[in-house]
Amino acid sequence: MREKAHVREVGPRDGIQMVKTILPSARKLAWCRGAVEAGIREIEVTSFVPAKVIPQFADAEEVARGALAMPGLRPSVLVPNLKGAERAFALGVPIVNYVLSASEEHNQANVRRSTEESLQDFARIAAARDQRPGARIGLGAGIATAFGCTISGAVSEARVVEIAVRLAGMGADEIIVADTVGYGDPGQVRRLMGAVIAAVRPLPVACHFHDTRGLGLANVTAALDAGVRAFDASLAGLGGCPFAPGATGNIDTEDTVFLLEQLGFDTGADVERLVALRREVESWLPGERFSGAIARAGLPKTFRVSASAAA
Ligand code: COA
Ligand code: ZN
Repeated sequence: MREKAHVREVGPRDGIQMVKTILPSARKLAWCRGAVEAGIREIEVTSFVPAKVIPQFADAEEVARGALAMPGLRPSVLVPNLKGAERAFALGVPIVNYVLSASEEHNQANVRRSTEESLQDFARIAAARDQRPGARIGLGAGIATAFGCTISGAVSEARVVEIAVRLAGMGADEIIVADTVGYGDPGQVRRLMGAVIAAVRPLPVACHFHDTRGLGLANVTAALDAGVRAFDASLAGLGGCPFAPGATGNIDTEDTVFLLEQLGFDTGADVERLVALRREVESWLPGERFSGAIARAGLPKTFRVSASAAA
């Protein structure tokens, strides 16, 4: 039995935050369906932000409802505040991912409040979650700009760990450490992820990398060394925060699955099916920049041999 590693598709959320085309809900759902057929089980399907802040997500309820009805999918959604969480709770979304930023300046730019106010909002979200009857809703807590910020520069590792500990204490079910602007390097990732994991153990910790400076997959291997086994990624390497100057795409889903499988992990996902889906998604988004090496070069002939040899 190979050890499992989870690749969570965030294309229908992070991937389309900055694209020029407003995708119809049916296409967003076709993206989700295609990813599920390719073996991806967790997808961040939309974002509960005001439509005037990001018009792409004006159909958040419709997409979430469609995703909830999709067999084989565990959908999650992003929320920036209590109002967003209430919208997600009302629909019965099983995993709700909250985001705040370790950088004060990015937190102000992104959600128009201090990081401390965002922490207090998370406490209100957790309390609202706890009061709900029925199955417990999983709360992910994302720490954006954890490796540095294009507005303010360096972000203190001690501050990131402190925020992670506070979120854990408030009722987060998972901590997601995010390199929003691609400032992280493998040494920093190994150090910070080791520290966060040690500080919040046994809570699961995931990573959300952007490949802005070409270190995205190197950072995945460093995070694996530190013990991380869940990674956000976007098909075709799309993505980026509209409120972080210079932001570009997430690590590419197909390349991330390829890397993890080559290293002997079981992702459950099929790279070739992901590449086929990616071609379809590309055709829906004229004028965008896509990245990804496997889509360009194809899988090596040694791929299946090494994946099964590790089994
Ligand atoms: N969904 C829908 N409507 C919302 C909402 C949400 N999550 N949060 C607030 N609103 C509405 C309020 O009800 C209010 O409506 P009204 O004007 O009709 O009364 C209005 O939006 C302003 O509310 P307020 O709480 O003052 O928000 P704000 O203007 O301070 O903006 C955020 C705060 C968090 C809503 C906004 O900055 C935001 O959406 N940021 C997200 C950015 C993002 O998605 N970044 C990329 C992902 S990292
Ligand atoms: Zn992101």
